[in-house]
Amino acid sequence: MADETKDTLTVTDNRTGERYELPITDGTIRAMDLRGIKVDEDDFGLMAYDPAYKNTAATRSAITLIDGEKGVLRYRGYPIEQLAEQSSFLEVAYLLWHGELPSRDALATFQHDITHHTMVHENIREFIEAFRYDAHPMGILVGTVGALSTFYPDAKELDDPEVRRLQMHRLIAKMPTLAAYAYRHRRGLPVVRPDNELSYAGNFLSMLFKMTEVRYQPNPVIEKALDVLFILHADHEQNCSTTTMRGVGSSHADPFSATASACAALYGPLHGGANEAVVRMLRHIGSPKNIAGFIESVKQGEQRLMGFGHRVYKNYDPRAKVIKKLAYQVFDEVGKNPLIDIAVELEKIALEDEYFVQRKLYPNVDFYSGLIYESMGLPMDLFPVLFAIGRTPGWLAQWEEMINDDEQKIARPRQVYVGAGKRDYVPLSERD
Ligand code: SDX
Repeated sequence: MADETKDTLTVTDNRTGERYELPITDGTIRAMDLRGIKVDEDDFGLMAYDPAYKNTAATRSAITLIDGEKGVLRYRGYPIEQLAEQSSFLEVAYLLWHGELPSRDALATFQHDITHHTMVHENIREFIEAFRYDAHPMGILVGTVGALSTFYPDAKELDDPEVRRLQMHRLIAKMPTLAAYAYRHRRGLPVVRPDNELSYAGNFLSMLFKMTEVRYQPNPVIEKALDVLFILHADHEQNCSTTTMRGVGSSHADPFSATASACAALYGPLHGGANEAVVRMLRHIGSPKNIAGFIESVKQGEQRLMGFGHRVYKNYDPRAKVIKKLAYQVFDEVGKNPLIDIAVELEKIALEDEYFVQRKLYPNVDFYSGLIYESMGLPMDLFPVLFAIGRTPGWLAQWEEMINDDEQKIARPRQVYVGAGKRDYVPLSERD
């Protein structure tokens, strides 16, 4: 008989007939409580087996909430649609870190602090110039963010909140500089130093595109669109790269090394590399008349519909809705990206096809973002780097939450061993 008054799970171990009451907290049971379920005193106890952590809450977090069934995303309780419409990227970074929207003075101070950390040591510029001309910018970013840890040895003092805050300012400020320097190296152009008179997005555009003019004037529509895209990418609960950031950070490695590892995780085509893969996919499809054949190949398992599907969203990714609308605003300014027609038709067909409907596959954040970046004149392999710039405040907010969480220790999962039993070494002379 159900007893609604008790937040517990009663389980019977049929191997022994023993019954156990496991407390239920926030919709979870503690995996460590399973260890008490044994067949005898020598038994290690039960573990939960959860490859890819599909049903494991590894932390408590107050930063971001996703409701996958409803397609809801909130940063510190604020709906992503409102933040995209009314806020700015640096204000959102402050919100993610501090938990509250800043006062006017606090925002001005934060903007000043970020703006005055945009420069990088000349050795970093030289390091970037040592990469091949055709090096993928994400490979450069992983290397240079890690290299930054060698310039700031004080970053290892993780117990000092002021030290943590300084490294967080340095990282969010320097990511655009590293990205722009990698882009200019690729183009064979001299780097453009940060311009502290410009906004965060405006300065990034200046470092990317300034040529011989005395001062770069960002296009306000492009500047605003880029700022909104950074907002939309700022955080997303315990995604693959954030889990990596937390995992590396749990060993108390410095935040530059942890961020470099998060960049490496984001690089994968199943994660942040999807925005680049979407544009390559749309170019490969080439025309709306080829969509039906492509969809068939996806349903045959020959390839994936990049930019579709999500581990958590089983509804339309709310970010994709905002980006799709933003795309048309940018196209009004710089001209329509012809690939949008293929993308819109592909989305329409997929959303009506049982294969995708049954698997609850909808466009995710990566489906339309690459089309905007391409229309801004950015090369495809820079797209995941733009994702990394946007996600940096989220990685750092999650990292600091982990550092301050008394429940967290060094991340070290267990395993189920399925390898060979004990056996003796066979000398080479006795092997056939
Ligand atoms: C991001 O976690 C986050 O929050 C990530 C992110 C963030 O902000 O940090 O939102 C950013 O990474 C967005 C996702 C970008 N990646 C892509 O667009 C790549 C294409 N998508 C997929 O590879 C996939 O949907 C994932 C990786 C996103 C999610 O994979 P899951 O949750 O492990 O799902 P799955 O692979 O188990 O798929 C379930 C079923 C399978 O079919 P069956 O084996 O059951 O028959 O759906 C199918 C999959 O084959 N499927 C797809 C598909 N995605 C899943 N089939 C075709 N095309 C796809 N895109």
